[in-house]
Amino acid sequence: MIQGVSKPALARHHGQPGVGRNKIKMRPMDNTPGGASGPHSPILYLTKVFHFSSSHRMVSPYLSEEENFRRYGKCANPGGHGHNYRLEVTVAGPMDPRTGCVMDLELLARVVREQVIDVLDHRNINEIPHFRQVVPSMENIAHWIWQEIRGRTHPARLHRIRLFETESNFVEYRGE
Ligand code: NI
Repeated sequence: MIQGVSKPALARHHGQPGVGRNKIKMRPMDNTPGGASGPHSPILYLTKVFHFSSSHRMVSPYLSEEENFRRYGKCANPGGHGHNYRLEVTVAGPMDPRTGCVMDLELLARVVREQVIDVLDHRNINEIPHFRQVVPSMENIAHWIWQEIRGRTHPARLHRIRLFETESNFVEYRGE
């Protein structure tokens, strides 16, 4: 060390980054474990799976009876038919380093149960007010589910929902 020259002055003289004019600003009171909060927190995607059983009849008010049968086949039969639906709800957000969680899973479960499952489960979807003029296709049901959940998953944001009508048919919606 050179006599009479302080360390920061020496570092500034040599143009080292991180000190002097290029000094990195430290967050003053980051007491969180690991310091993972803030703009560079990792974003995680959290999914919860739900099941419900409902009946529906595929019939569009914009098509004639004949056109409905041509388009939907036996799915337009009067009396309807049922499905065991599988719903996957994915939220995204930074992990809270204090809890290690993106959001409270119990809160997510309650929101989906109250807004969606309690409304659809063991019901005829055609009789639900929204679907009186909207074909209860899995696409329309998924879109409706998104509207019902969106904005209720604080602090995470709703990222994606997947609705399986059968084991081989599902639709995905990301709010686009
Ligand atoms: Ni069906």
